[in-house]
Amino acid sequence: LGSGGREHALAWKIAQSPLTGKLYVAPGNAGTREVATNLNLSPTDFDSVQKAIKDYQIDMLVVGPEQPLVEGIRDALEQNPAFADLLIIGPGKQGAQLEGSKAFAKEFMLRHGIPTAQYRSFTAGDYEDARKYIQSLQPPYVLKADGLAAGKGVIITSDTGEAVRTAEDILLHQKFGKAGDTLLVEQFLEGIEMSVFVLTDGEDYILLPEAKDYKRIGEGDTGANTGGMGAVSPVPFASQELMQKIESRIIRRSIDGLKKDGIPYSGFIFFGLMIANGEPYVIEYNVRMGDPETEVVLPRIDSDLVELLRNTATGNIPAQDIKIKPETAVTVMAVSGGYPGTYEKGKTIHLPENPGLVFHAGTRFEGDKLLTNGGRVFCVTSFGESIRDAADKSYSVLEKARFEGMYYRRDIGKDLLDRS
Ligand code: AMP
Ligand code: GLY
Repeated sequence: LGSGGREHALAWKIAQSPLTGKLYVAPGNAGTREVATNLNLSPTDFDSVQKAIKDYQIDMLVVGPEQPLVEGIRDALEQNPAFADLLIIGPGKQGAQLEGSKAFAKEFMLRHGIPTAQYRSFTAGDYEDARKYIQSLQPPYVLKADGLAAGKGVIITSDTGEAVRTAEDILLHQKFGKAGDTLLVEQFLEGIEMSVFVLTDGEDYILLPEAKDYKRIGEGDTGANTGGMGAVSPVPFASQELMQKIESRIIRRSIDGLKKDGIPYSGFIFFGLMIANGEPYVIEYNVRMGDPETEVVLPRIDSDLVELLRNTATGNIPAQDIKIKPETAVTVMAVSGGYPGTYEKGKTIHLPENPGLVFHAGTRFEGDKLLTNGGRVFCVTSFGESIRDAADKSYSVLEKARFEGMYYRRDIGKDLLDRS
C-alpha cells in the first residue's frame, strides 16, 4: 500500500524475489507500474483494500505509509476470518501509537528507560502552564503536536514570543486539529541525526542498514522541512561502538518494552535518532520505513526481502545477519518547483537513457507520457566507493533529467565527506 518512492523501492525489491508470484501496488505510481500492477484505491479505504485482497487472492500485505496503520488497518483485517492466513507487515493500532502519538511514544520511552529528550505535555486546559513552562526554559524551544500532522507538527524556534504563540495556536486555536489536542514541549538536543531501521516480529529483530536523510528544502540544511530531499547509507560516523549503544539501549529496550506492555508488533520500526556527544537519543519512532531512506536502504540489501518479510510476519526471524552490500548508496530527490509549499502538477518528465536506479514518487502516466503528480517527483539512487563517488553518479543523471520547475539539492552527503 502506498504511492511514494518508498513504495516503488519496496515493489522493486519484492519483484526480484523468486517467492513473489503476482505483485500489486495500491495506488502506486508510474514507477510501480513497471514492476507491479497498480490498483486504483486509497490505502485508508479499508473496504476497498479488503475487496482487493479477496479479488486478487493476496497472500502478503506490506503497508508502506503510517496513516492506514495508525487508523487500524491491521486490526480491521484481523477481525475478518477470511483473512486468517494473510501475512501483514505493519503493526496494529496499538503499536502504531509509537508514531501516531508523540505523548504515547514519550511515556513508552520513559517507562522502558530508552534515552530521549526531556519533555512536558500540555492540553488546552493547561495553556497557562505551557506558557510559563516555555518562558522558564532556555531557547531553542522544541514544540510538537501529539498526533500525525504530515511532518509539519514540529516547531523549533529560538524566539520566545513565537514559541508561546505556537503553543497558543496549537492548544487554543486547534492549528493542527485533533493532532494538537496535546502539545509536547521538549528539551532541544544538539547533535547529528541518523536513522536506523529494523524488521521485528515483536520478539527478535533484523537490523537493516542505517541511513541519514536531508529534510530541509535548501542546501546547507536551510529552509522549510520536507518529506526528505535525499539520503545516504551507510552513515560514516555510525561506528561499531555507536551501533552497539543503539542496539542495546534503544532497539532491544523498545522491542522488549512492546512485549512487556503486551503490544504485539510485526513490521518495520524506524528509529529517528539524535547523536549528542556520542550518545544516541530517540527523536521519534516511525512504524514504517522512511522515504527516501528506503531508496538507499533496500538497494543495499542482498538478501531476499520477501523471505525476510515472511519470517517477520510468521514470527520466525532468523538469528543470522542479512547480506548487505558494502558500497555506499546515495539518493537525491527531484521535486516540483514550490515544494514543500504550493506547486503545479502535470509537467512532462524527461529522463535520460539508462538512468540507473530511478525510484518514482509523484509521477503518473498519461498514455505513454510520464507526468509529475506530486511534490517529490522521483529520486536517483547510485552506488559508489565513497559518498562523493555515489553522489556524483546521481547528479550526472539529474543533470540530464528535466521537467518544468524541477529542483534538487546539490549538497546531499556533503556534510559527511569529512566524517568518514
Ligand atoms: P520529527 O517530526 O519528530 O522527526 O521532528 C522533525 C525534526 O525536528 C527532526 O528531524 C529534528 O531535526 C528536529 N527535532 C525534533 N525534536 C528535536 C529535539 N528534541 N531537539 C533537537 N531537534 C529536534
Ligand atoms: N524521511 C523521513 C521520513 O520518512 O519520515
